[in-house]
Amino acid sequence: MDNAKPASSDRAPSHLFYQSRLRRPLVDRAEGIYLWDQNGKRYIDGSSGAMVVNIGHGNRHVIDTMKKQMDKVTFAYRLHFENEPAEDLAGRIAGYMPEGMDKVFFVSGGSEAVESCLKLARQYAVATGQAQRWKVISRFPSYHGGTLGALAVTGYAALTDPFTAMMKEMPKIPAPTAYLDRDNFSIEERGLRYADKLEEAILAEGPESVLAFIMEPVGGASTGALVAPDSYYGRIREICDRHGVLLIHDEVMSGVGRTGKFLGGDHWNCRPDLIALSKGFGSGYSPLGAMVAPSRMVQPVLDAGGFQHGYTYAGNPLACAAGGAVLDEIERLDLMGNAAAMGDLLKGELVMLSKRFPFIGDVRGKGLLLAAEFVENTVTMQPLAKEKNAFQRVIDIAYDKGLIIYSRRTRGGVEGDHFLVCPPMIVTREQIGEIVAILDDTLQDLASELNLPVNR
Ligand SMILES: Cc1ncc(COP(=O)(O)O)c(C=O)c1O
Repeated sequence: MDNAKPASSDRAPSHLFYQSRLRRPLVDRAEGIYLWDQNGKRYIDGSSGAMVVNIGHGNRHVIDTMKKQMDKVTFAYRLHFENEPAEDLAGRIAGYMPEGMDKVFFVSGGSEAVESCLKLARQYAVATGQAQRWKVISRFPSYHGGTLGALAVTGYAALTDPFTAMMKEMPKIPAPTAYLDRDNFSIEERGLRYADKLEEAILAEGPESVLAFIMEPVGGASTGALVAPDSYYGRIREICDRHGVLLIHDEVMSGVGRTGKFLGGDHWNCRPDLIALSKGFGSGYSPLGAMVAPSRMVQPVLDAGGFQHGYTYAGNPLACAAGGAVLDEIERLDLMGNAAAMGDLLKGELVMLSKRFPFIGDVRGKGLLLAAEFVENTVTMQPLAKEKNAFQRVIDIAYDKGLIIYSRRTRGGVEGDHFLVCPPMIVTREQIGEIVAILDDTLQDLASELNLPVNR
């Protein structure tokens, strides 16, 4: 019953509420890259949920490992006991990190991982006689989480506007959207110019007051998998070093293999001071995240009386057992290699689609963190009229056809439209073909509905 109607119609009112009134069908089961609703309709999980289920659904090894752990102990509070799954996982994660990043602090999600980075950075500054440093510069657009601290460094107007009065506003610099620029500079020169905006901001704020800079090495939903020019990454490190500013990499979406390397920043051999991980880390089998930090930052904070921060469920044995088993599967099945190869294939297919559908103005990303942006005009890169709501329509049309993709407004949450295609890292060549066929169909319908051009 692959094409049955979704099970969201004729449903009783619910006591649940989400971000909007939109109702979705009740999920029944999931396996590999597919999910089924209770009417038997099948969906391809072309966004791995919210770029979470990196190893695919229903993985036997992870489920069996979790069951075994549940029979032993599911929760033991970290102030009362240490546990083996947490110890093992921390050691393995440290092995994947840039040199010196040897300390792992577990949390249960991406916002918690980002909050932890902000708070460790601040406590490190206080512990080392730099208490005047508190400003965290970030990029616009960006997304770092929904809690008020993470939101203060998020650049996405629709999400931040209602809360600005309640937050300590943090300085923003433009994200490196070099693909939009129409000037005579080379792409690498543009990369340096975007990085230099960080130095300008540090100088304008007063270098002695700036604590950190936070960025997504490969962008997530807010930018549509934005990749900076190669020149950007090294220059950012130099600028941070010059002014004693800590560099935080938010790898919540780009980390744990999705881009074809363990960290997004590994594509440029980046050496950040703090790293936030989540999403694919637990791959949806358990809420799990982590902050990774160097001993040289952790020790002074512990010496000064301890890290004044933590979450109840952090580092629990069940979540960490799930994380360890997810890592087993990433290694055993060479899922990073597959993400790189299938990512190249899918990106090539998206580029082909952009030839047929010239309202696709840019295709970008790395590995299986990929996005396509819609524009009105590919020369000026003027976005589509926002009233068209193309970002919403594209996912709704695809959903009806049994393909789940993810989308957002591209330009700061205000205008612009993109969709992300980020299937699980187990995706095969044949399944990429299946995804692309439905996307083609979807874009055809979108073009008819919104009166957008199609090349035959
Ligand atoms: C880059 C990035 N940081 C942080 C977060 C917040 O993670 P969570 O929703 O698990 O709190 C997200 C979530 O989408 C993200 O993409």
